[in-house]
Amino acid sequence: MSARDFPEGFLWGAATAAHQVEGQNVNSDWWAFEHAAFSAARESSGDGIDHRRRFREDFDLLASLGHNAHRLSVEWARIEPAPGEFSQLELSHYREVLLALRERGLTSFVTLYHFTLPRWFAERGGWTAHDALDLFARYCAVVMRALGDVADMVCTVNEPQMVALHGYLEGYHPPGVTNPTLWKRVGRTLLEAHHRAVREVHAASDAPVGLVVQLPLLAPARDDAVTRAFCDEMTAEIVDLYLDGLRPGDGGDWLGVQYYRKNWVDPVLPTYFAPPPPGTPVTQMGWAVHPEGLAAMLRRASATGLPLYVTENGIATADDEERVDYLESHLGAVARVIGEGLDVRGYLHWSAFDNFEWSEGYRPLFGLIAVDRAHGFTRTPKPSAHAFARVARTGRLA
Ligand code: NOJ
Repeated sequence: MSARDFPEGFLWGAATAAHQVEGQNVNSDWWAFEHAAFSAARESSGDGIDHRRRFREDFDLLASLGHNAHRLSVEWARIEPAPGEFSQLELSHYREVLLALRERGLTSFVTLYHFTLPRWFAERGGWTAHDALDLFARYCAVVMRALGDVADMVCTVNEPQMVALHGYLEGYHPPGVTNPTLWKRVGRTLLEAHHRAVREVHAASDAPVGLVVQLPLLAPARDDAVTRAFCDEMTAEIVDLYLDGLRPGDGGDWLGVQYYRKNWVDPVLPTYFAPPPPGTPVTQMGWAVHPEGLAAMLRRASATGLPLYVTENGIATADDEERVDYLESHLGAVARVIGEGLDVRGYLHWSAFDNFEWSEGYRPLFGLIAVDRAHGFTRTPKPSAHAFARVARTGRLA
């Protein structure tokens, strides 16, 4: 029998986010964005995948598939529907959710802010408002006082640079702004939001807290000096800033690495990101698969000195065999860097279920488990869910 590729105690699971699975998140900026005239979003999130009512059976299913951890987010728009007005009902709902994970032996990763804002917060300027950080810190404090004893691991801000890029440069997430300089300022504000959240979590809970950051591998779209220099600049802006910028003390206790693909950047394009070179195989998202990038990004992240978790990694495909291959190659990359001595402690696949992929709607299929939204939201684990279960149970790749 071959030796283990992953250590005992390694955390195995999948990730979701409230807006993508819960449904009817009507008080959020995203719901407003989805329903605006000429929206960049192709459909409404609607009923989600009805996870709000089915969370117990969903966690039973995940536990039966070898998971011992699960990442989800709590929804600010539900918890604080009006400024300073906190819903005890919503907080107790999330308490039940976290207790349900605990009862099933699943370590929880709880994200405080995963892309969605209360509508009132967005309408008064969102992250550009002068008191945005104070309001976010107040929300974090309330959540942690209510849930700090039942949350195992806390994630502060999900993918701050993607919020900045998609919302303020590319404009296909709310607030739909396309501004060549504002996105950088928002990114910095969100990094500060992380630091503020860490302080609130530490004040109210023993749960280790971390930033969960997407680290895309960037390559120049053309091999000339200007494009190469631009690629370095973008890497500094959306990768280095979020690793080197973590302050000791309130930078966090661990770091979540989220990785999907290789990207090409081009300074002459208004939104900088170029499609993959012609002939490159792509996923339903148009993304180029490149497993070695995950190893590279974990090595880069390890320079922070923080324990690492892969908090998202996955593929949108209707062909589940592709997902099995993606899992094998990316878990292989994780095993490789663990073999090199990197402190990687868990892997959370994106996603547990097919769900609402933001502006792309329900078409991209990221789940280990299929959901039939037209017929009673029936859940059906795909072959990839079983392949994942085998690695999770044995700690071995083959
Ligand atoms: C990152 C985001 O955190 C998640 O919400 C999204 O669905 C996946 N990437 C896939 O795009």
